[in-house]
Amino acid sequence: MKPVFSDLGAKLGGPCGIQELMDDLGQALSTHPNMRMLGGGNPAAIPEMQALWRDQWRALVDEEPDRLDRALVNYDPPAGNTRFREVMAAFLQRECGWSCEAKNIAVLPGGQAAFFYLQMLLVGGSGGRQMLYPIAPDYIGYANQGLHAESLASVPGQIEQRGAHRFKYHIDFERLRARLSPQTAGLCLSCPTNPTGNVVSAEELDQLRELAREQRVPLILDQAYGMPFPGAIYVDWKPVWDEGIIASISLSKLGLPGLRTSVIVADESVVTALANMNSVVALANGNIGQALLQPLLEDATLTRCAREVIRPFYQRRRDFAEAVLSEALGDAVPYALHESQGAFFLWLWLRDCPVTSAELYRRLKEREVLVVPGHYFFFGLEEAWQHQHECLRITYSQPEAVVREGLQILAEEVRKAYAEG
Ligand SMILES: Cc1ncc(COP(=O)(O)O)c(C=O)c1O
Repeated sequence: MKPVFSDLGAKLGGPCGIQELMDDLGQALSTHPNMRMLGGGNPAAIPEMQALWRDQWRALVDEEPDRLDRALVNYDPPAGNTRFREVMAAFLQRECGWSCEAKNIAVLPGGQAAFFYLQMLLVGGSGGRQMLYPIAPDYIGYANQGLHAESLASVPGQIEQRGAHRFKYHIDFERLRARLSPQTAGLCLSCPTNPTGNVVSAEELDQLRELAREQRVPLILDQAYGMPFPGAIYVDWKPVWDEGIIASISLSKLGLPGLRTSVIVADESVVTALANMNSVVALANGNIGQALLQPLLEDATLTRCAREVIRPFYQRRRDFAEAVLSEALGDAVPYALHESQGAFFLWLWLRDCPVTSAELYRRLKEREVLVVPGHYFFFGLEEAWQHQHECLRITYSQPEAVVREGLQILAEEVRKAYAEG
């Protein structure tokens, strides 16, 4: 017998775009072992980082068995391990100059869960209120967290063309202001942005902070790829935090997505509410991620790794992927790549392409290349936008040979698509 699901149960438990896409990607990978995976958000297996995690693990077992035993046998408080929160706050004071304390730190079971909690806390489930995303496109994972059609609102990024084959989105502040309303519950963006690699400028950030202050709503900055770690950010960017900002930092893109651990830095009232929600939903967090990371926050190891290992690794991969794709596409098609200022994706805009990105995704899958069609990242728009069917997200964290082959096949399909027009 199939039980009757509640409206909320049907909404959260039912199919949705991102789940269908993820299932499709998973199926394709399992049935085609030769599939070139340029579609996921997994971090790269960086040998130096993997060695570091193994060393940390060994040290915990061999040198600090008591700490390991305590981590395994105890539930932590729902806001996270008390010592970890203190160490994290001291790390952020030291490395970022933030005036935060342990009471401003909530450890949560991954950034994805943190964003769901924030959505429930600020927007809620009864309809009416909404989270406002200043630049569409933005992270696909936010898209299905709004429980009502109006729970998410976004503003199309303003496109600046930079030379023949580059472009960059900026915040269209005029349209953003027009989109604000008493129902606006918060402003939210990922920086560097998944999927585009965009990093908002210091001026844009100042304006956003000002706007959030005026509206008396929080500004949520999702730093899954950026500062202070993993540091996959290729332009100067000063991480900011103060009253009214909710910063999200995750262990995942350091190479630890399996540990499901992230940190929110926020005003005490927000931290307390998130911790209370966490006790309702999860009782406590997994604490092994905190145990592994803590010693690296106490000295300069993590910052050094971000600067000397992680950032150069992804920057090299980005340069490689851009060079392969640019060469393969040549000047034959009117493509443009978003300025890749961080994260680990190329965002390819196929201007006026006669074939949609959804159809290109299907054709590429047949040729054993997986990418993510761009339209999923344009949630919350007021009006349809042709641009949303003209973009693809391409991950470059996989080994170079895979990236090269995948991009060469992609370029062939793109040329064929334009030839159909
Ligand atoms: C921008 C962004 N935010 C948040 C997340 C969620 O990551 P996690 O739940 O692993 O911390 C991701 C994952 O890919 C992401 O790309």
